[in-house]
Amino acid sequence: MTLDLVELTEKVRALAIQTGRFIREERNGFHRERVEKKHAHDYVSYVDRESERRIVTCLRKLLPEAGFIAEEGSAAFSDEPYCWVVDPLDGTTNFIHDNAPYCVSIALRDRSEILLGVVYEICRDECFWTYRGAPSYRNGEEIHVSEVEKADDAFLALGLPYDAEAYRPVFNRLIDGVYGHVAGTRVVGAAAAEMCYVACGRLDARVEAFLGPWDVAAGILILRNAGGKVTDFDGGDDYESGRQIVASNGKIHGFLLKILKVE
Ligand code: IPD
Ligand code: CA
Repeated sequence: MTLDLVELTEKVRALAIQTGRFIREERNGFHRERVEKKHAHDYVSYVDRESERRIVTCLRKLLPEAGFIAEEGSAAFSDEPYCWVVDPLDGTTNFIHDNAPYCVSIALRDRSEILLGVVYEICRDECFWTYRGAPSYRNGEEIHVSEVEKADDAFLALGLPYDAEAYRPVFNRLIDGVYGHVAGTRVVGAAAAEMCYVACGRLDARVEAFLGPWDVAAGILILRNAGGKVTDFDGGDDYESGRQIVASNGKIHGFLLKILKVE
């Protein structure tokens, strides 16, 4: 079966925006008492779960032959030819604290590659999207990575994953390598949105580890189709799991890999 990726992407964009509206409405009057803990400092609420339920229900109708990798686990993958990779609310801790950004992230893959990616950043009302072989867009406008070449001019985001003990040595190395050597460093708190910010040139790079595939799948294709580069910490291609990910405009990638290299 050949998929009509143009039509499918359009439908997924509408779904992401509609789900984003639900999340925005629930933010009004949201109370922290409604938050549950999944693991230490890793939170979830009925908003994440209801958002996932709505997305899964709609995607099931859209492509019945696809399985799911969805962060809150409401649907599963059992070797179907296609797989939706869904983060119903990326940046949950930002959402809980009414701090931007947070977003909905949806990707579709087949057995060999990511076919489409949509990230709807709710706070700025920005929908980032692409599909195989297409450019990347923010709402209706084509986007490209920045031209920044020198580390000295680079504006970066570093992720702080929940597994603090495992990541601490890497983070210490990173902060040591970038602080005072680049134009600016931020911790933004929503991996999927940050990948799109690199894609549109707002950031020049971002680095994190111990993510899930739902945090990065849509962002990977959006960034690649905007001219960016994605690798693991060794410069290789083991990054779709989210275990290690360096996302950049391509030009300052080497600078970051050098910092990450363990001698
Ligand atoms: C998290 C965010 C955050 C990152 C965490 C992720 P969630 O996703 O992307 O920026 O640092 O590692 O798990 O839990 O908000 O969907
Ligand atoms: Ca999430």
